[in-house]
Amino acid sequence: MTNKVVVLGSLNVDTTLHIDQMPKPGETISAKSKTNSAGGKGANQAVAAARSGAQTSFIGQVGDDSNGIFMIDALKLDGINTDHVGINQVDGTGSAVILLDSQGQNSIMVYGGANQAMKTEVIADSQALIKSADILISEFETPQEVTYEAFKLAKQHGVTTILNPAPASKIIYGLLEVTDLIVPNETESATLTGIEVNDTDSMDQNAAKFSEMGIDNLIITVGDRGAYYHTPSDSGFVPAFKVKAKDTTAAGDTFIGAFSSQIDKDLSNIEAALVYAQKASSITVQRLGALPSIPTAEEIKAEYK
Ligand code: RIB
Repeated sequence: MTNKVVVLGSLNVDTTLHIDQMPKPGETISAKSKTNSAGGKGANQAVAAARSGAQTSFIGQVGDDSNGIFMIDALKLDGINTDHVGINQVDGTGSAVILLDSQGQNSIMVYGGANQAMKTEVIADSQALIKSADILISEFETPQEVTYEAFKLAKQHGVTTILNPAPASKIIYGLLEVTDLIVPNETESATLTGIEVNDTDSMDQNAAKFSEMGIDNLIITVGDRGAYYHTPSDSGFVPAFKVKAKDTTAAGDTFIGAFSSQIDKDLSNIEAALVYAQKASSITVQRLGALPSIPTAEEIKAEYK
């Protein structure tokens, strides 16, 4: 049986500019080509969960524009319940500009728009949905206050909450108390704890610091090296599968969404769920774009027989 996953998060239309190398400050360069695709950390996570078989619902907001329709249609195509995606009459649908160089490295600039205009009231309208979930995921491309309301409700009803603190910013008071598992990447982890992530010792120190901050379950994703995990009963490192990356956009989101489709509510199968998540994101990085690059369960099985 797969999980019922609810994602509270962002919806962005991504414009990717394909370039040879990143511009220097003040430099103008020409892009070789341009592509558009559906994206946003929330949308990518939801699609990754749905493509891995989770019954997935979305709580979010778009603008009253063609990009908003495009994003809602993109979620529906993957069978995601969009009943709780609102339409904001003032702010436009979120968007992102992604610079992708020939080495597969990217830089991303995000316009939050309707994502950042979300209000805590939406959670009152989503109560029944949240209560019925196994897993609730959120990130920082929508306001933390909204996530806090949602996580508080989730915890009252035994729903496991996963926080992806991306892009990293100061965590509001109380949010970690209602978070079961935090999943930063190495840079986000270092920003939040003040401790650089390089070797296992530094990862253990990050775990100790997060514990002091009030959260005992941690996964740090470390790009093409793998993922570190720490719970009160277990700790370890799951190496990444070695592949040649074309575009790392949405790799971390795929990881979290795929993970959420597999993880038990008490996190007892964390290592197996992490191996599955690594397989999923190893496929994402070999493809271009955000949503279009996310694999299905069948594709993951076929790649890793
Ligand atoms: O994590 C990748 C995502 O970050 C992109 O799809 C972009 O929209 C930004 O939100």
